[in-house]
Amino acid sequence: MSTANPTKPSNATAMSSLFESIQTDLALVESRLQSELRHSDPFIDELAQHSFRFGGKRLRPALLLLTAQAVGEINDDHHTLAAVVEMIHTATLVHDDVLDEATIRRHENTVNARWNNQTSVLLGDYLFTHAFYLASSLETTFGCRTIGRATNTVCEGELLQMAASGKFLLSRDGYFAIIEAKTAALCACCCQLGAHYAGGDKQTLRDLEQYGHLLGIAFQIADDLLDLVGKEQTVGKSLGTDLAKHRMTLPLIELRDSLNPGQQQELRELLEAPNNENMATLLDWLQRSGSLQQAQNLANDYAQQAAEKLTSISDSPAKQALLEIAKASVSRYA
Ligand code: IPE
Ligand code: IPE
Ligand code: MG
Ligand code: MG
Repeated sequence: MSTANPTKPSNATAMSSLFESIQTDLALVESRLQSELRHSDPFIDELAQHSFRFGGKRLRPALLLLTAQAVGEINDDHHTLAAVVEMIHTATLVHDDVLDEATIRRHENTVNARWNNQTSVLLGDYLFTHAFYLASSLETTFGCRTIGRATNTVCEGELLQMAASGKFLLSRDGYFAIIEAKTAALCACCCQLGAHYAGGDKQTLRDLEQYGHLLGIAFQIADDLLDLVGKEQTVGKSLGTDLAKHRMTLPLIELRDSLNPGQQQELRELLEAPNNENMATLLDWLQRSGSLQQAQNLANDYAQQAAEKLTSISDSPAKQALLEIAKASVSRYA
């Protein structure tokens, strides 16, 4: 079992260096998150703080704030919503770590590893409900409704993924349906909210929502590559869980579809027994066949398509940051 690295992760900087224009706002969101989740009971307090302590990239709040800035001005509704989406995202991770039996998250022990699964289920619920309670403090219901729909879609994605576990013949469409739901939906929601609460018009909202959606797809493909080839110490979370849970991610689908029936059977057998030796063989195969590169190329294509959705947005440091985030989302180390 891996152990947590108690030092503050330096690899979060690649993304965070793009957040310069929203630094003050992100700091506000951070203190909002901290204060919202303080509790007089030391156990609940420690639990609620645990998942946020070592950060994480804060990509979703950043998307929400940068899209707001690219369209108009950031206001206090954005700060509230940015805290809400990070709470939702963190809740999904707390639950996801139970499903994946992961031991490391954000360079810390996962809640399930440090406490147990029951605690994770309840903490995830606590974060979800707190997030919606906070979202309901806004004067209009648009934010709450939009986040509700996106969160629902994320849960559907996790359910679809669970149902697809062990399905060697999972189609590319099936894979995309999973990642669009579990990851792209929340990224799209953040961008839509940023633009809406900054007074963006319908077309701008649509463009930014699509930017978020395409970015989320690119981000998850890159994440699935990291699960195969990343280094836990650098990434700061348990890796290899997709293989351990018998999930067909894009590089595996690319490889499978390039093989003849005999080779496919060989691959199927490797995947059925994900021990160290089989995994080394598999990685070598993925590398030599070009399947890793094909998946990376597809991630790059989606990032490029995301960037193109910003064409009609006026130039600004915020727009520049969104363009850079699209690039950074597919050359990830964390
Ligand atoms: C992890 O998201 C879950 C995925 C969608 C891959 P992040 O990689 O943004 O996690 P944090 O917030 O930085 O920890
Ligand atoms: C994203 O998928 C999960 C959620 C949307 C909650 P992953 O399972 O790939 O995320 P990581 O790799 O554990 O962060
Ligand atoms: Mg996971
Ligand atoms: Mg992953």
